Amino acid sequence: MSKIFITRQLPETAIAKLKDSFEVEMWPYEDHPVTREELIKQAEDADALLTMLTETVDEEVFQKAKRLKVVANLAVGFDNIDLEVAKKHDVTVTNTPDVLNETTADLTFALLLATARRIPEAVDYIKDNKWNTWSPFLLAGSDVHHKTLGIVGMGNIGQAVAKRATGFNMNILYHNRSRKKQAEVELGASYVSFDELITQSDFVVCMTPLTDETKDMFDEHVFQKMKKSAIFINSSRGGVVDEEALYQALKNGEIKAAGLDVFKNEPINHEHPLLELDQVVALPHIGSASVDTRMKMVELAVGNIDRVLNGREPLSPVH
Ligand code: DGY
Repeated sequence: MSKIFITRQLPETAIAKLKDSFEVEMWPYEDHPVTREELIKQAEDADALLTMLTETVDEEVFQKAKRLKVVANLAVGFDNIDLEVAKKHDVTVTNTPDVLNETTADLTFALLLATARRIPEAVDYIKDNKWNTWSPFLLAGSDVHHKTLGIVGMGNIGQAVAKRATGFNMNILYHNRSRKKQAEVELGASYVSFDELITQSDFVVCMTPLTDETKDMFDEHVFQKMKKSAIFINSSRGGVVDEEALYQALKNGEIKAAGLDVFKNEPINHEHPLLELDQVVALPHIGSASVDTRMKMVELAVGNIDRVLNGREPLSPVH
């Protein structure tokens, strides 16, 4: 019987389908990741791994996992998996695209609004008992409506963010490897060079996946070119940002604020320098975290494993 190892505790109902036909082992904790030793031990006789973005699935894992046929990652991103090595070992890799587009766009826009209008600061202000009187510029933030939004990475999630921006009458710019003609027609988005985008945008929203080319692409030179009033939002991967450069840019007033759902080395703790700054709104990587969407992601990952182990094409292979 084929064996599946699931690297985090998932609801029994969500994995029932796999248990009917396969032997399923699951790391028994929801709130801390599988240890590296356990991952490797379990991978040794596993035919399938259902992994989270917290696991690095690299040469060492693939070499030990002699029976492995599929790695189903519970995320649209797959930068935690070495695709070249997977290919060399003839292992299929799958992700969970599309089912999370709208939910991640909701969170990205919520983060943009929260950062622009200083909502977390305002919440703390009341809770800390500081509200003595109304005053004209108390916690005054930046407008969102009618401003210029620049989206770097105009995939499906980027387009879902742009769709939300149309409701705020924003001027939408985007930069992407390829033109998205449909988004241009339907959302009124304009394709611009990366340089034009960062110099002209009031909000720079990073939606690009982490690859060798995008690693640290938001560096000191990029932040220096942005407007002093610019707000930087990142809900893709922390690795695309040079965090020290972002810290300096915020500290020196080269940009105004940042809303961050992702960090280079997650999880960060309260000592992270970016958290010192009032103009940073930080979230613990919750882009796709609605119950409905997470269930759909699990369902898709489960479906991918079921299909591969039954000799069929997966629903969402990573190429
Ligand atoms: C993804 O799917 O890649 C997200 O970052 C997880 O929410």
